[in-house]
Amino acid sequence: MMTREELIGMLGAPFSDSETDRELFAEAVRVRNRAVGDQVYLRGLIELSNRCRKNCLYCGIRNGNSAAERYTLTDGQVLAAAEYAWRSGYGSVVIQAGERTDGVFVERIERLVRQIKTLSDGELGITLSLGEQERETYRRWFGAGAHRYLLRIEASSPELYARLHPADHRYEKRLECLGWLKEEGYQVGTGVMIGLPYQSVEDLADDLLFFRNLDIDMCGMGPYIEFPGTPLAEAPCAFARDERLRLALRMIALLRLLMPDINIASTTALHALHPQGRELGIAAGANVMMPNLTPAVVRANYKLYDNKPLQDMDLRGFNVALDSGWGDSRHFSVRTAGAPVSALREK
Ligand code: 5AD
Ligand code: SF4
Repeated sequence: MMTREELIGMLGAPFSDSETDRELFAEAVRVRNRAVGDQVYLRGLIELSNRCRKNCLYCGIRNGNSAAERYTLTDGQVLAAAEYAWRSGYGSVVIQAGERTDGVFVERIERLVRQIKTLSDGELGITLSLGEQERETYRRWFGAGAHRYLLRIEASSPELYARLHPADHRYEKRLECLGWLKEEGYQVGTGVMIGLPYQSVEDLADDLLFFRNLDIDMCGMGPYIEFPGTPLAEAPCAFARDERLRLALRMIALLRLLMPDINIASTTALHALHPQGRELGIAAGANVMMPNLTPAVVRANYKLYDNKPLQDMDLRGFNVALDSGWGDSRHFSVRTAGAPVSALREK
């Protein structure tokens, strides 16, 4: 088992030391293949809306960015994307949007989840990534058929979290939401940004230990990329962009060693920094990719960071799983073994 000091040592190794990285990534791939197999699962990503009530200091679609052109997909567009995913053999879709908590929104999501379940004869798995909500809302969406939820902690250090968010965004609230999601029966995913201003390799090592302590089922993390005009964009960053890419790959590999049986996504932000970024993520131990199914007409508006790639990835050379299973986190079945079946949903 790796200690905090060992993690710090690996994360802080000189970037000129590519041999150590090669060995680390190869070991992570071996561990992944033993624990969860060598297939890569696909999730169809549907970016429902870029309207958001929050004001995270790094984000291109923060509420305060009046230059962002706002959109919300129609029900027809969402259902068409989900139907496309189902007909193309994807096991599941991810519905992502900026944070909204009004009753109209909550009801709409509940309805869409039910409709996606119906159109796919119950076969499409549904992951939600819709921010902090009331516990009752999480319960309703789970009741409608969603079974996984992604809510990044963004930075597991409360001090760092506070420097990345306005004062009314609360770290404790986010933790509380992660706890509720687990208690409501979801497979829970979280993650952080890598290479942030004010962030050290010690912080990143602590992020990895945070994931293990929280006993998460899934993780999505990617390099931080400045979005011009956001408050954080001017803050000095300890790591150049190519260093953030390497750091992100090290984080993926080390997390795979720490938690062999979880699902780890190779994220779009990796691709924004390198044309083969997501492929490199898989080669460092990730096992999930999320091709974007958002209709092309609005895709350019879902800009969390600069230079977000709009085209999809090249999956040749990967053992990509396009089976009808949901590609559940193996960790989830292990963690919940013995729990009352009524509280769980897996396939
Ligand atoms: N750089 C990288 N990732 C970002 N996100 C938001 N803004 C940025 C940025 N500038 C990430 C956050 C959020 C996810 C949807 O996108 O981690 O949780
Ligand atoms: Fe909203 Fe998420 Fe961007 Fe924060 S990171 S402003 S919650 S979309």
